[in-house]
Amino acid sequence: MNETRLFYTPLWQTDIADPNDHWVERRDLMLQRIFALEAEGKGVLKTNFGGWQSPDDLYRYPEFQWLIGRIMALGNEVAPAFSARKRFDDGIIWANINRKGHFNAVHTHPDAVLSGVVYLKCDHRDQGVIQFFDAREGSPTAQWRCYMRIDDAGPVVNDVHEVLPKEGHLLFFPGWLKHWVTPNLTDRERVSVSFNIRLE
Ligand SMILES: [Fe+2]
Repeated sequence: MNETRLFYTPLWQTDIADPNDHWVERRDLMLQRIFALEAEGKGVLKTNFGGWQSPDDLYRYPEFQWLIGRIMALGNEVAPAFSARKRFDDGIIWANINRKGHFNAVHTHPDAVLSGVVYLKCDHRDQGVIQFFDAREGSPTAQWRCYMRIDDAGPVVNDVHEVLPKEGHLLFFPGWLKHWVTPNLTDRERVSVSFNIRLE
């Protein structure tokens, strides 16, 4: 039969840790700046329970110019999914450090058409994964799931999608998509950079 997928929810992923493009050096400079900002006490409290979140103006620092360039270029590759006539040209960007026991509560990124995250430091699922929730308002999938084995759920009735963070991986998702970050169960810090970008 013909299938029409209504109101689909995209999640885009790519790996920007290209060793031929000085990834290790660029990553280390970004981490140094993030830890320096944390040491200066320049943090904000938003979705993080414990942990540290920087102000959302990392675009002010030279260490993030390369990353912002990559984010905007990749964002404009997916821009046609939002509008054939518009491009992404502005945004905000901030860093997150989650240490043992820290997590980010369920949230969306209000007013952001496209949001995302890049992982700078994490190497194990126990440091916290990101889980996205079914975006369909009033979806009955939670009830349907009561009648089937969890490992038997197909794409129409799945209501959570989990992504294991990996250094150098970048995710894009619509800002309205609910998500959270599970607690870091390890003694190793987990560092990521999040962003919201806007259509011109
Ligand atoms: Fe988020």
